[in-house]
Amino acid sequence: MDSKIELPYIENHSFQNELTSLLDEFEMLLTDFKKSKSDEVRKCILNKIEEVFDLLQKCYENKDGKIFLDELRDYSKKILKNDLDYFNRLNTNSQKPKNQFFESKISRFSLFILKIILFKNKSKITKNFQNGNLKREELTTDSGIAINLATILLNIDFKFSGIFSSLKKMTGENMSVVGCALELSTQESKWWLLSDKEKTPKTTYLHLDEGIGNPKAITYLSSVSQKNGPFSVIKNQDDIFKINYIQSLIGRAIGQVGRQNSKIKNLFNHKYHQTFGCKNFKELFELLPSIVKFNSHFGFDVKPNSLLEQKLIQNEIIFTGMPGKTVVFDGSSVLHRGGLIIEGERLALQIVLGKKEQFYYLNKILRYVKS
Ligand SMILES: [Fe+2]
Repeated sequence: MDSKIELPYIENHSFQNELTSLLDEFEMLLTDFKKSKSDEVRKCILNKIEEVFDLLQKCYENKDGKIFLDELRDYSKKILKNDLDYFNRLNTNSQKPKNQFFESKISRFSLFILKIILFKNKSKITKNFQNGNLKREELTTDSGIAINLATILLNIDFKFSGIFSSLKKMTGENMSVVGCALELSTQESKWWLLSDKEKTPKTTYLHLDEGIGNPKAITYLSSVSQKNGPFSVIKNQDDIFKINYIQSLIGRAIGQVGRQNSKIKNLFNHKYHQTFGCKNFKELFELLPSIVKFNSHFGFDVKPNSLLEQKLIQNEIIFTGMPGKTVVFDGSSVLHRGGLIIEGERLALQIVLGKKEQFYYLNKILRYVKS
């Protein structure tokens, strides 16, 4: 593994050479595809990932382990296909800035209108909170007319505030707001603490998002200080640690394994948001060679008082600010976190951005009518 500081995963494997060669071939194919966009190379990449997972079967002897790996293979392939679609549309000539984030703000007028539009949604989630419903999905609303109106308003604001032009510089693409969610974070929700609170690292919940090419933004609708869940990012993270592409893929897939429709779901007692909250699950993950091992939510896994923890915290940029403050970031390439409330509460809009589609609203209406 090409890392400057050791990630918190244990090395435990042989057949390293064979695997390393496969990974090198994989990276070369990927570099080729980013330039050539060739269908042939795409096919080779999809074959190569099968070879990698075929070799990884050597790590698992029992039936449950094999199912675990099969699920990891399926989710990794799904993410890989989405990544390849993104690389296919990406302009390889444009140089992306090193740090994939910036801060801005929406206008006072937009903030005022947003508060009116979202008044009912805010009342609903506040009521949920008062009734003791503290799960994140119960304190979030992301659909309905008000949310659609907020999305339209954000598109107008981002155009005039210059956020879209800054985004183009960051991503190389014309983007638009494709959705948003109103989210209330409260001090009663402590999902970011490990079950043994004392062992919670300072880096808890630092994570990378799954989908690449889909930047996000967060707009505060309440004042945010150090204590009520400021959003934060890690600057220059490549100077701290580096992962290869397969690690990135497995890191983004691992959180889905053994959940929902899994055949081995009953083996695990997953903790909300925490990939390795279950000991049985972590044991299966540990059987993988470290050259492919990664967890996109690895902030939970960092050892307290380690050098990695220290470096990450030193490089953390914390965004406090007044309502209207907006931070835009590519969540797949920048470690980030937010909503970890020590005291008080935070009301914010989580904003999803996507490649600008011509006649977006017309197409959306047509899709709605067809369904
Ligand atoms: Fe995220």
